[in-house]
Amino acid sequence: MEGDIVDLLLQLKKEQSTPIDLTLEDIKGILMNVLVAGSDTSAATVVWAMTALIKNPKVMNKVQEEIRKSIGSKGIVKEDDVKNMPYFTAMIKEALRLYPPVPLLVPRESMGKSTLEGYEIQAGTILYVNSWAIARDPEIWENPEEFIPERFLNSDVDFKGQHYELIPFGAGRRGCPGIALGVASAELALSNLLYTFDWELPHGMKKEDVDTNVRPGITMHKKNELCLIAKNYL
Ligand code: HEM
Repeated sequence: MEGDIVDLLLQLKKEQSTPIDLTLEDIKGILMNVLVAGSDTSAATVVWAMTALIKNPKVMNKVQEEIRKSIGSKGIVKEDDVKNMPYFTAMIKEALRLYPPVPLLVPRESMGKSTLEGYEIQAGTILYVNSWAIARDPEIWENPEEFIPERFLNSDVDFKGQHYELIPFGAGRRGCPGIALGVASAELALSNLLYTFDWELPHGMKKEDVDTNVRPGITMHKKNELCLIAKNYL
C-alpha cells in the first residue's frame, strides 16, 4: 500500500477490516503511542550512544572505521547495510545496556500469592523491574560500568527479551511492541552520523568533562545537552 501510517490507519477504518471498529479517537491514541513511546526513546538511544562514543575515542574510531570501510563512497548508510557491521551493532547493544532509555519497565501486578527468596508476595502487588540495575549488576557483567562493545562480539546475548540480563525493551507479553522500528531508527540515525562526520568536543573541553547525569522522567534523557562539533568527512 502507498502512503504512511496515517494513511494506513484511515484505510483500515474505511475498509472496516479490523476486528474492532476503529474510531478516529483510537487512531489518535495509536499515533500518540507511536510518537510518545517511539521517537523519544530512539532519540535518547542516539544521544546516549554518542555520549559513550565521545568519552571512548578508541571505540569511536573502531566503529567509524567499520562503517566507512563497509559503505565506501556510497554516500549514505541504508537499513540493510547495518547487518554487515557487527561491531556497530555490538556498540548499540552496549549503549542500550549502560543507558536504557526506559530504565524502569512498565509496572506489573502479581496475579497470585507467591514466594520469592523466602519473601511472601501477596496477590495484587505492584512490581517495578529495574532493567538499568540488572544491566549493571557486577554479578552478571564484567566491568559493568565500562563501555566495552567487544563483550557482545562473541556472545549470543541479545535485547529481544530472551536474555533477562539485558532487557532494554522489557520482556514477555508486556514487552516493547516497537522494538524493530526503535532499533532500525536508532541504527539508521547513528550509522549515518558516524559515517558522514568526525566528531569533536568543543574547544577546551575534555572527554572527562562530558557528564552522564539524567533528567527525571519515564524516558531517561541526558540532563545536560550533548554539545559536539561535527566535521564533514565525506
Ligand atoms: C530504542 C527505542 C525503544 C526502547 C528502548 C523502548 C523500550 C520500551 C520498554 C522498556 C517498554 C516496557 C516493556 C516492558 O515493560 O516489558 C516499552 C513499551 C512500549 N513501547 Fe517501546 N521502546 C522503544 C521504541 C518504541 C517504538 C518505536 C514504539 C512504537 C512505534 C514503541 C512502543 C511501545 C509501546 C506502545 C509500549 C507499551 C506496551 C504495553 O504496555 O503493552 N516503543 N518500550
